[in-house]
Amino acid sequence: MRRSASRPGRRREGGDGMRISLATAFCALLAAMPVAAQDAAQQARLATGRKVAETWCANCHLIGPQARGPTGDAAPPFHAIARMPETSDATLRAFLRMPHATMPDHQLRQEELDGVVAWILALRSGR
Ligand code: HEC
Repeated sequence: MRRSASRPGRRREGGDGMRISLATAFCALLAAMPVAAQDAAQQARLATGRKVAETWCANCHLIGPQARGPTGDAAPPFHAIARMPETSDATLRAFLRMPHATMPDHQLRQEELDGVVAWILALRSGR
């Protein structure tokens, strides 16, 4: 169901609360997992995030750690976003819940959102 044209920017869909509590449960589960399993989960998230970034974000943003090259002036590079002191998992999720700039309203699925947030935050360490 994509009604982007007729809809105001802010999404309010029934499933949201459910999704958030599932995400919370997932985090609790992750916290209980052994480190190796967490690493594997993080690697999977990063792989998804990279794909999402390359597909949906790279038109406007520099998405990689050493990325250099022509992009629009307006869109900050992901590594710069990652290093802003106010950036966190929560601020990224809140921001990405809504379309921004002239970004197509592509409605990231939960694992795509998890992935791209993990991808951006991983750039903080200059990987
Ligand atoms: C059509 C161009 C375009 C696309 C595509 C796009 N962005 Fe952006 N993005 C911008 C612009 C321009 C800004 C700065 C202005 C603003 O915040 O709206 C921005 C800002 C942001 C910010 C906020 C930085 C801050 O100041 O807090 C984040 C996070 C972000 N984009 C993530 C993404 C992600 C993730 C994707 C892919 C799913 C994406 N963007 C796709 C143009 C784009």
